[in-house]
Amino acid sequence: MDKIQINGGRQLKGEVFISGAKNAALPLIASSILVDGVSTFENVPRLMDISSIFMLLEDLGASCEFEGHTFTVDGAGINKIEAEYELVRKMRASILVLGPLVARFGRAKVSMPGGCAIGARPVNMHLSGLEALGATISIAGGYIEATAEGGLTGNEVYFDIPTVTGTENLMMAAVLAQGQTKLRNAAREPEIICLADALNKMGANIRGAGTTIITIDGVSRLHGATCRVIPDRIETGTFLAAAAATKGDVVVRDCVPDHLGGVISKLKATGAVVDTFEDRIHIKGSEIIKHIDIKTLPYPGFPTDMQAQFMALMTIAQGNSMIHESIFENRFIHANELLRMGADIKISGGNIANVRGVSHLQGAPVMASDLRASASLVIAGLIAQGTTVISRVYHMDRGYETIEKKFEGLGADIKRLSS
Ligand code: EPZ
Repeated sequence: MDKIQINGGRQLKGEVFISGAKNAALPLIASSILVDGVSTFENVPRLMDISSIFMLLEDLGASCEFEGHTFTVDGAGINKIEAEYELVRKMRASILVLGPLVARFGRAKVSMPGGCAIGARPVNMHLSGLEALGATISIAGGYIEATAEGGLTGNEVYFDIPTVTGTENLMMAAVLAQGQTKLRNAAREPEIICLADALNKMGANIRGAGTTIITIDGVSRLHGATCRVIPDRIETGTFLAAAAATKGDVVVRDCVPDHLGGVISKLKATGAVVDTFEDRIHIKGSEIIKHIDIKTLPYPGFPTDMQAQFMALMTIAQGNSMIHESIFENRFIHANELLRMGADIKISGGNIANVRGVSHLQGAPVMASDLRASASLVIAGLIAQGTTVISRVYHMDRGYETIEKKFEGLGADIKRLSS
């Protein structure tokens, strides 16, 4: 397994270009199942998770091509409605094929995605939403079986929690349903808007994406289209946090500043100078990093996917910071590794971390546990004195495209140790 080695202490300087968003590309590619024809997606990042959904769609009978950053799917050949455990276990976002399969074929058999390091990750709201649209759901042998003889019927669907992939799954299920569907307490992430725009380009009739109530008027069929994946707001935030932590001077290009409201205001609160332009953000880290409190919330609140990166930043802030992780039940695993580097972090009640700033971290061998935890350890390695070696970087390869090359381009002393 590959490792990443970092010799810390360098200020990041220069500009970095952001890739397409993993969490927008995955639902977009899943939506191609709805189309009996060719769909094309541009600005798709080259990541392990994209390879996983490539294999999953091919296993269903679709034919896929991935040239450069353009992903093409011909859904005409889909002849299987079963997403197998061996493929789903590699990436739990595979649950996103459930809605489209039921919508187009009236049946689907998808392995339960199971949990991951950060939490149990239930899908009960996906299933109750499909039942509201008339599907019969059964679970046997670790598989979800959904059937809707005669197709789905539009209805009201209320989410107890604004679930991101739940909203995406139900939006895709509803586009071919008979009649109108309203998704209430829907997630408002930019990735939801990106998916709705793509589906509307394919002939769907969706209104209200980005608000808490999304209205979908079912249509008889969708046609192929060319759609573009939005820039990755979490990758953007990761580089901004790294620039602030190294007290550097960085321009982040090809991003959407408006997608990072909460992150930018928190970075400014630490003392960083942040200027935003149409498609780029200029950040200058401050010599003294002020401590701040953070609570993760559904969009447009502070994103849970930026919590680990900010914890790394707060390890060298002046004073105590409180981080409240309100979305996932076990998303502080990175804290244990940061402690090994000399950080002072106390976890109370499972979802509150108190971070007392220290003068510096020391490089150490550490282990990545999940995608964003690995980003947190990279930031810690960049600011630590000495050498840090991060193992299990396959976690990082799931969601960050050539991240060590991008950091190297900003002046970091970082390299991949290939096994
Ligand atoms: C999406 O996961 C993202 N993944 C996650 O990004 C992100 O952290 C998360 O949204 C929150 O923003 C993708 O988009 C592929 P949720 P998702 O359903 O949809 C509970 C990353 O690092 N819940 O919005 O799985 C759930 O347990 C990944 O890129 C239910 O109880 O998250 C959680 O507490 C990590 N029942 C809360 O809702 C359900 O049926 C929000 O989860 C569904 C969710």
